[in-house]
Amino acid sequence: MMNKQLRKAVIAGNWKMNKTPEETSALIAEIAPLAENAGCDVVVCVPYIDLHAALAATAGTNIRVGAQNCHWAGSGAFTGEVSAAMLAGMGVPYVIIGHSERRSLFGDSDGTVAKRTRAALDAGLIVILCVGEYIEQRELGITNEVVRLQTKVALKGVSEEELARVIIAYEPVWAIGTGLTATPGQANEVNHEIRVLVEELYGKTAADKLVVQYGGSMNAANAAELLAQEDIDGGLIGGASLKAADFGVIVKAASV
Ligand code: PGA
Repeated sequence: MMNKQLRKAVIAGNWKMNKTPEETSALIAEIAPLAENAGCDVVVCVPYIDLHAALAATAGTNIRVGAQNCHWAGSGAFTGEVSAAMLAGMGVPYVIIGHSERRSLFGDSDGTVAKRTRAALDAGLIVILCVGEYIEQRELGITNEVVRLQTKVALKGVSEEELARVIIAYEPVWAIGTGLTATPGQANEVNHEIRVLVEELYGKTAADKLVVQYGGSMNAANAAELLAQEDIDGGLIGGASLKAADFGVIVKAASV
């Protein structure tokens, strides 16, 4: 499939549990000039408490804001949770769903990831859906099966029209925050497999348009080679997204 030019790359920072509102404004002020001529979409996914500051700091820039999770219910007795409608209501366009830290530390399953995806799409949000295998699964040779299953369950009931608001981030769990990056070949192979699955489910036009990111220790030094791969349409960046200069280099690498 030589259709990379059909897709605009998306570089999204996943700030995880870092930065106060004040620090959020400061970091976005540093990132904004580095991202202003970007040839890709640029998103910063910040803690809930920082969303307001992030929206204010990105106003008038080409940087968009995302949350890192949302609940599947519209409202109700869910102490400590935030609904997709609440995010949409405050003007947040993006949300990460199913990050491996949510899955491994906070009990998210393929089933709850599907419910959150449903709620986010119903609220009009753009979903960054995370999938990826554990090292044991890679060693067993079942990476593609794991990733296909995660993707298939999350997309159950998602229409082709809604799929235009879904970005899939392939993030091998063993590469997240470890400094171990998948090789460009390894990453591209799984990204390609995701696109093949989406072609099976929705057809070639939808698959050609689907943005599939790579995430897992992507940084200023390795981004260009990863992003040059045919099926890697951007990145979900953790650690390196907290350093404006590094994030700027990655945005630039995705802009060629
Ligand atoms: P990392 O995190 O870039 O720090 O490996 C990526 C992610 O968890 O989304």
